[in-house]
Amino acid sequence: MRVVNGTSEMMKPESVSLHPLGAAAAPVPEMLCIFGTGDLGRSLGLRLLQSGYRVVYGSRRPHSCGPLPQGSQVMSHEAAAQSASLIFICVHREHYGFLETMAPHLAGKVLVDLSNNLKKGIYPEPNAAYLQRLVPGAAVVKGLNTLSAWALQNGLLAGKQ
Ligand SMILES: NC(=O)c1ccc[n+]([C@@H]2O[C@H](COP(=O)([O-])OP(=O)(O)OC[C@H]3O[C@@H](n4cnc5c(N)ncnc54)[C@H](OP(=O)(O)O)[C@@H]3O)[C@@H](O)[C@H]2O)c1
Repeated sequence: MRVVNGTSEMMKPESVSLHPLGAAAAPVPEMLCIFGTGDLGRSLGLRLLQSGYRVVYGSRRPHSCGPLPQGSQVMSHEAAAQSASLIFICVHREHYGFLETMAPHLAGKVLVDLSNNLKKGIYPEPNAAYLQRLVPGAAVVKGLNTLSAWALQNGLLAGKQ
């Protein structure tokens, strides 16, 4: 309020009104996708959830896979891929064939290849190069393959397994 000639008049606000910060203002956590509900998929998903991400699994058997970390979702590979732009491939290289048939659903996605082989030199090309050949429209990144599911599950300082 300001006073003009002994009378007061309301000032027009010149600034935008501020709203209190609340749940509505909090950003929605990013959704990350994991293909494969085995040992590494489960352990990685648990850590991602603990880090504040949302997690969706793509599985061959979304209605009968084993127990998954609380808070995650599980659906078909196609549906799960639609929900995220980054997909961790927690499947053995021997089973990558299904990804070729899924290639149209994976175009433009980032695929993280976490696979290891049981022996050196059993395949003519590295696993990530093979995956990139199967899904040329995706961007394949090699990484996290030196983490162990056991260590992820039990804590990185819990011991070597
Ligand atoms: N375990 C580790 O500590 C570790 C560490 C570093 C890297 N890795 C790598 O991570 C990958 C997964 O290892 P893992 O130990 O998690 O193996 P795993 O326990 O055998 O799980 C593999 C998952 O792949 C899916 N799968 C199996 N056969 C399939 C098929 N024919 N087509 C499509 N999906 C299939 C299954 O999930 P659904 O039934 O849900 O489809 C299965 O649970 C491997 O490449 C491994 O080298 C593992």
